[in-house]
Amino acid sequence: MTRSIRPLVAGNWKMNGLKADIAIAAEVAKGYDTVLKQGVDLAICPPATLLFTTSAALIGARIATGGQDCSTQNSGAFTGEVSAAMLADAGANFCIVGHSERRTLHGETNATVMAKAEAAQKALLVPIVCVGETREEREAGKALAVVKKQLRGSIPDGATAATLVVAYEPVWAIGTGLTPTAADVAEVHEAIRAELGRLLGKAAAAGVRLLYGGSVKPSNASELMNVANVDGALVGGASLKADEFLAIARACNG
Ligand code: PGA
Repeated sequence: MTRSIRPLVAGNWKMNGLKADIAIAAEVAKGYDTVLKQGVDLAICPPATLLFTTSAALIGARIATGGQDCSTQNSGAFTGEVSAAMLADAGANFCIVGHSERRTLHGETNATVMAKAEAAQKALLVPIVCVGETREEREAGKALAVVKKQLRGSIPDGATAATLVVAYEPVWAIGTGLTPTAADVAEVHEAIRAELGRLLGKAAAAGVRLLYGGSVKPSNASELMNVANVDGALVGGASLKADEFLAIARACNG
């Protein structure tokens, strides 16, 4: 953790969740007690279809919501796309961009990710820009180089601590139950902070929240969240269970 930074635990529901599952968000709200509220921010990123109702259900709970992706465009003839302005209108505060599932399954390049991050910022959403290496890249000793290149290509100019969150998600750790060692996470997060310093200036970079994501669960959350420069978590599978998501939030709360 970085002492001066208020941590954020964000749940990425991915393509999971029907109306009835808003109960999960309500359960999280119930468990977000005074102690947790004092120390950690929470966000839930449901599928776009549930964003409006989830946001409405969380008003008063001080839990933010977010989209999982957005269009690079504001509006118009883009069948099937959802704009950042629409997500904001549905109550979102954040938008995940550049998740590895988007980068690999939908061919999103760094340039696309940057355009999406800028679109999110324009709609006053805070983009959660995801970066991370594949297993082959890590084994070839290229993890840091890959992550730095992704940052250079996908972080909008002029972003600040208030307008940007970065998530380090090693592709091989997502949904696999595998996690990097604390030392590996520390090395990458330190490199991310340094690269952001070069891109945005040291002062801005010092306050940007750097989340770790990839198989975070209650049993490993304390170890991962105690790593230097880890300011929270982006949680997939475990965010679909209110008790697990809350346990991760508590781990983040020191
Ligand atoms: P996971 O997913 O926690 O299920 O590994 C993380 C993510 O993809 O954001």
